[in-house]
This record gives sequence, structure tokens and C-alpha cells, in this order.
Amino acid sequence: MPRHGFPGDLIVATRFLMSIFPDQLSSVPSLNVVILAAGDSTRMRSDTPKVLHPLGGRPLIEYSVRLADALSTTPPVVVIGRGAEAVRSQLGTRARYVEQQQRLGTGHAVMQARGLLAGQEGTVAVFYADMPLLTVDTMGRLLDLHAGGSGVLSMLTFESATPRGFGRIVRTPDGEVQAIVEEVDCTPEQRLISELNPGLYCFDADWIWENIDSIPVSPKGEYYLTDLVGIAVSQGRKVAAVKVDDATEMLGINTREHLAEAEAVLRGRVNRRHMQAGVTLIDPQTTYIDDTVSIDRDTVVFPATHLRGMTRIGQGCRIGPDTTVENTSLGSGCRVTYSVLEGALVEDGVEIGPFAHLRSGAHLASGVHMGNFGEVKNSYLGPGVKMGHFSYIGDAQIGSEANIGAGTITCNYDGSQKHPTEIGAGAFIGSDTMLVAPVRIGMGARTGAGSVVTRDVPDGETAVGVPARLRGLAHSDIE
Ligand code: UD1
Ligand code: CA
Repeated sequence: MPRHGFPGDLIVATRFLMSIFPDQLSSVPSLNVVILAAGDSTRMRSDTPKVLHPLGGRPLIEYSVRLADALSTTPPVVVIGRGAEAVRSQLGTRARYVEQQQRLGTGHAVMQARGLLAGQEGTVAVFYADMPLLTVDTMGRLLDLHAGGSGVLSMLTFESATPRGFGRIVRTPDGEVQAIVEEVDCTPEQRLISELNPGLYCFDADWIWENIDSIPVSPKGEYYLTDLVGIAVSQGRKVAAVKVDDATEMLGINTREHLAEAEAVLRGRVNRRHMQAGVTLIDPQTTYIDDTVSIDRDTVVFPATHLRGMTRIGQGCRIGPDTTVENTSLGSGCRVTYSVLEGALVEDGVEIGPFAHLRSGAHLASGVHMGNFGEVKNSYLGPGVKMGHFSYIGDAQIGSEANIGAGTITCNYDGSQKHPTEIGAGAFIGSDTMLVAPVRIGMGARTGAGSVVTRDVPDGETAVGVPARLRGLAHSDIE
């Protein structure tokens, strides 16, 4: 990710700066980012803090922190309040924290960061943690605007016919920004203004820490960060503003409806990114891919497929339809239909489904064929293993090219403990075999249809019956 503002990362920093400040490399100020995340988020009606609600597979707060990381190598200052501990444990050392004890508004929230940042030169960027769709490009434009002008405050604006709670941008007749007026405080004429405040600002560090205490308290007892605009204007300072065309970036999450809208926008972006990188999505409308997933080229994703969490998919796979893959790594050339894969590792050229279930710790080596109605948990299936129909494999190690007959079950649980099963390379497990663990089936060994195997079967031997005995040994048990 491109970064700037810190000497430790000069190469990427320089590359990024050349793209956004082509002429002013030497005059780039250092940048501190402040992220406001302390709000009570009452409109979500949730026990979970708003900024920890998931979007595209990540908690909301992650989007603003990732954006901050792309802009500055100095960890952002996150203002926390409700759910402070949960937010801290989500972000760990990637952020610095200040706590806002009483929620007295966005201006008051920024005041809390002064202790940490006052005295540091450069630029302070402030954004709200509930705006996950903002892009690095757009923030780059804002930084560019701020660095290129002489104002103490620069901001973004956008136009929308549905203002839904956003502050209105009031301009003078000659077009200069004069104030931001919150919707609740608007006159009927101001309400009709369609230029809105998305809530992204750059300040000169000295200026903001000198002036933040001048924010007046509102009739509702809040300190609005947006009042700094009026304050700058009253001092004869210029407020620079650039209008952003893509209003979808400006979607702020205040309610669950907004969350669903943002999810749809993000899904569209993620899907486009994969298609541009050479992945075929048969029906993007019904393809749900978390922002965290990676897919190699020439893979085809069929409808009603969900790819979630830390999932990685190799080249030339065919995934779906009606398939969920979560926290799973798939190699190249795999085919998965109508199946659920969770926490599994799948190597190249594996066929899965229809109606298969891989659970955590399932590891399928290359060329495994797992057909319909199979379940594998915490087990290794070696290269070329075939389990075609109706099987449960749990806590097992299976050697290469073994054949698991229809209906085979590893009876791995005795009611209190789990036990392991080992099946040697090239073994042939007959249909409907019950493998009562702990048990070992030798290399190239065979079991008869319907056998219940309670003792080990040596290499190359055949066991049949209930309980299973070695074939040809009438009286002795298998040892
Ligand atoms: C704010 C802006 C509004 C803008 C809109 C864009 C102000 C006064 N208004 O309104 O002009 O159009 O965002 O989305 O800034 N927060 C705190 N502490 C507080 C209050 C809020 O940390 O005491 C945080 C919240 O967690 C949230 C962010 O600040 O991440 C914005 O707060 P919110 O209440 O959503 O502001 P809006 O009413 O949307
Ligand atoms: Ca908001």
C-alpha cells in the first residue's frame, strides 16, 4: 500500500507522492489521521458498537484504518467511546487511542486528540469511522488540494438529491464555502441545498489545535466539528473544497439500511475487481465475495456462491453454483459444486460435491475426488484418494490412492473422547464399513462390505464381517 509522511518508508512514499503531488515533493507536510469512532450509534439499535458491524467480511472500522494506513505510516488516532475495549482489541497496536468519556459531538471528539497531537507540525486529517467506501484516490485528492492551497482547512463535498441527514454546504454568492449547517439547524431554504458534507477534512495542525476550543456549544449541548468552517471564514481564512463525483463513496452508515446499501456497493466493487483481474462471474448479482478473498485468473464462479473470510482460490477453478467457501484455501483446477467448505485446505485438481461438507482441519491433497454427501473434518486425504458417496471422515489420515467405499464412516467418538483412524496408501475400504477408532488399516489392505472394524488390519490383508476378522482366519482375531 502506498504511504507517506514518515521517513521509514521512503520508496513507497515517494512513489505515492509523485502520483498525488507531482510538483511538490519537497513540501509535503507530515500527516496525522484522526478517526472518530466514539459515537453512541443509537440508530443501529444494536448491542454491538456500530464500527464493529461487519461489511464485506471486515468490521467497519477496518476500512478507515486501512485508508489511514495508505496515507500515513504514523498509526491513526482513533477516538473511542462506546465499546472502547472491543474496538481496541480489534485494532491492537495498529492505532493510537484516545477515549471520549462523554459523547458531546464530533468537535468534542477531536478535542480529545489534542493532548496526543498538539505541538506536531503538518497536517491533521479527520474522518468518521462510519464511512467505509471512501477510496485512497479520493483522500489523495483532498490531501493534494490542501497541500496546493494556502487555506487552513480543506474538505470534500458532494451533490445528492437525497440529503438524508447530511450537513449542508452554504456558499457565498461568489461561490466560496461559508459554513456547514447541520440538517436539524437548517432554515427551510438551507434544507433545499443539494451540496452536502461527507465529513472529510484536512487541517493545518497549528490552526486546528489553536481554534478547536472556539467551537460554540449547540442548543443540544454538542460541539460540532463542522463549526470550524464558519470559524475559519470569520477569521478571513480560505476554506478549500473539492466536489467528489461518485456519491457512493460518501455513503455513511447510520442505520442497518445504510449497512445493506454499503454492502451492495462494496460487493459491486469487489466483483468488478475480480472480473477485471480475469475471473468469470456468471451472475455478479448473486455472487457474494468478501473484500478479504483472493481469486486467481480463469476461475469461473457460478451463481449463488459465497466466498468468505480469508479464502484463497487458485487458477482455473470452477466454484458453485450454490456453494459457500469460508476461510479455505483452494489450489488450481479444482471443481466445487453445491457444497460448503469451512476452514479447509484443498490442493490442486480436487473435485468436491455435489453436496459435500469440508470442516475445519480438512486437508485434501491433489487429485482427491470427493463426491456427493461426504463430510470431512480434521483429516488428511492423500493424493488421489477417492470417496465417492455418503461418507464421514473425522480425525483420520488417509494415504495416497486409497478408495473409500460408499457409506464408510470413521466412528471417531466414543461418547467422551475422539480417536484417530489411519488408512494406508492404496487401501480399499468396502461399502458401508464402520471404522471404530482408534484403528489402523494397513497399506493395500481391504475391508469387506458392511464390515465393522474394531482392530487393526495389517498391510495387504482383508478383513470382513461384524466384528471384522481377517478373511481365511476362522478363529483368531485380527491383531
Ligand atoms: C456528521 C456531520 C455532518 C455530515 C455527516 C456525514 C457533524 C456535526 N456533522 O453528522 O455534517 O454530513 O457526519 O456522515 O460533524 N462521533 C464521536 N463522538 C461524538 C459524536 C460522534 O466519536 O461525540 C463519531 C461517530 O462515531 C461517527 C462520527 O463521529 O463515526 C460521525 O458521527 P455521527 O453522529 O454519525 O454524525 P452525523 O450526524 O452523521
Ligand atoms: Ca454518520
